[in-house]
Amino acid sequence: MSDLKSALGEAVEAAFVAEGVPAELARVTASDRPDLADFQSNGALAAAKRVGKNPREIAAAVAERLKSDPRLSAVEIAGPGFLNLKLADAALAERANAIAADPRAGAETLARPRRVIVDYGGPNVAKPMHVGHLRASIIGESIKRLYRFRGDEVIGDAHFGDWGYQMGLLIGAVMDEHPDIAGLVESLDDKDAPIPAAFERITLADLDRLYPQAAAKGKEDPAYRDRARKLTAELQAHKPGCYVLWRQFRAVTQVALERDFHALGVDFDWWKGESDADPLIPEMVAELDAKGLLVDDQGARIVRVAREGDKRELPPLLVVSSEGSAMYGTTDLATILDRKRTFDPELVIYCVDQRQADHFEIVFRAAYLAGYAAEGQLEHIGFGTMNGTDGKPFKTREGGVLKLNDLIEMTRSKARERLHEAGLGENLPEAEFEDIAGKVAVAALKFADLQNFRGTSYVFDLDRFTSFEGKTGPYLLYQAVRVKSLLRKAEAEGATPGPVVVAEPAERDLVLTLDAFETALQEAYDKKAECAG
Ligand code: ARG
Repeated sequence: MSDLKSALGEAVEAAFVAEGVPAELARVTASDRPDLADFQSNGALAAAKRVGKNPREIAAAVAERLKSDPRLSAVEIAGPGFLNLKLADAALAERANAIAADPRAGAETLARPRRVIVDYGGPNVAKPMHVGHLRASIIGESIKRLYRFRGDEVIGDAHFGDWGYQMGLLIGAVMDEHPDIAGLVESLDDKDAPIPAAFERITLADLDRLYPQAAAKGKEDPAYRDRARKLTAELQAHKPGCYVLWRQFRAVTQVALERDFHALGVDFDWWKGESDADPLIPEMVAELDAKGLLVDDQGARIVRVAREGDKRELPPLLVVSSEGSAMYGTTDLATILDRKRTFDPELVIYCVDQRQADHFEIVFRAAYLAGYAAEGQLEHIGFGTMNGTDGKPFKTREGGVLKLNDLIEMTRSKARERLHEAGLGENLPEAEFEDIAGKVAVAALKFADLQNFRGTSYVFDLDRFTSFEGKTGPYLLYQAVRVKSLLRKAEAEGATPGPVVVAEPAERDLVLTLDAFETALQEAYDKKAECAG
C-alpha cells in the first residue's frame, strides 16, 4: 500500500510531465507553510528556464490538471509559482483507516531482503562495560530491529572480546593470588576437562577487582607485561591449564553480561567471541601467505593495506605478533571468514565507537584483498561519545571511566525520584514500582541516545533525560500509558472503535505524520541513522 504523499507525488509528476516538465523537477515535499498547505511543489520554478515559460504560467496549467483530483481540497499558486496542495479530509480519513487496519501501520517490506549481520555491543571478558558499550548496544539493537522489521534476515552478534591481552593479564593475576590455581594451570592436561572446583570459586567480582590492578601494573612493569603476553600466547596455543581457567572467566562474565543487556532490552542471536574465530586462524594465515599478502616485519607478520591516493598512511594489519599471538585485527579478519562460511552475509554492519574507524578500515581492506568479502559488504557505523558538561567523554567524579552498571543504577535512582515527584505509582507494591522505575530509566537512556544523530557526541544530562516533559523517553512512556488508559475507559463505557474521521488540524497533522512512517523507515534504513523530523 502506497502512502498518500507518494501517491500524490506521482499524480503531480504526471501533471508536470503533461506540461512538458521533466518528472525529476516536479518533486513534492512537505509544505514550508503547514498553516497554508500540506504539501508543495516548486517544479514550475525549477523548470521555467528549461521549458522557456513563465513559472506562474506553468503552475497554473499544472494546477488546472490537478483540480479534479478528489484527494485534494485545494490547489493554489503562491508567490512566483509555488504550487500549494491541501489534502481533502476524506482522503486523510481513508488513509488513516487503512493504516489502522494494517498490522504494519503502513510499513512495507523489502522487495529483495538480504542476509545481514549486525556486530554490536562488543562487551569484553572481565573488562567492565562502559558508556561506549551502551551506545554500541542501543544503536546496534535499533539497527537490528529496523532491518529485521523491513524484512531482512538479520543476526545480531555480540562479538565477545575474549581472546586478547586482557586474558593473559587476568590469568597471571589470578595465579599470583591463588597458588593452588597456579599449580593447576601448570598441571592440567585436558583443555576440555570439567572446570575444577578451585577455578569455580573465581567470581566476576574477583575479575572486576583484579583486572584494573593488572592492567595498571602491565602499563608500568615491562616484565609483568611480558608475562601477560606469554600467558596470552599460551592460552591461544590451548595450554590446558590456561584454557580451562579462561573457560571459567568466560562463563562467569557472559552470564552477568547477558543479564545486563537483557535489562536494557538488548538480546543477541549469537554470542560468539573472538575466540570462536581461533580455529580458522591457521588456515587463514596459510591462505594469506599463499596469496602473497603476508609480509614479515621484525618478527611479526603483517598485511599491508595502504592504497595509492590515501589521504593519510594507514598502518598494516598485524596478523601474528612477534610472540606468535593473534591480535584484535586477526580475530576480526578470521571472524569475517567464519561468518562467510556459516551465514554468507550480504552485509555486515559493525556498530562500534567512531574511534575504531581506522581499525575497521584496515581489517576490511585485508578482507577484500583476501577475498573474504566484496567491497561494500562490510560497513563500520561509528558513533560519537557521551560527554560530561566539560565536553569531554563522561568520567566519574573520581576521574575514572563510568561503568555501564553504575550508569544504569544512577538513572534508575533518578527515575524513582521523578516518579515520586509526579506522584506516580505511589500505591503500587514495591516490586511493581521498581519494575516501572527500571522501565523509565531504560526509556530515558535509550531515547537520549537515539535522539541525536549517531555521529554527534552529546552531553549526559540525567535531569533532562528523565524528565516527564519535553523530548524524552519518560514523556513517551507516559503518553503511551495515558492513551492506553483512555482506551480502557472508553471501552468500559461501552464505546466501540468506529472508522476514523479527520477534521481538526491536530488530527490532520497526526495522519500526515503516520503517512510518513514508511519514508522515515526507508531513510533510517539507508542511512543507518535516525532521520530528521
Ligand atoms: N570488544 C571491543 C571493544 O570493547 C568491541 C568489539 C567490536 N566488534 C568487532 N568486531 N571488533 O572495544
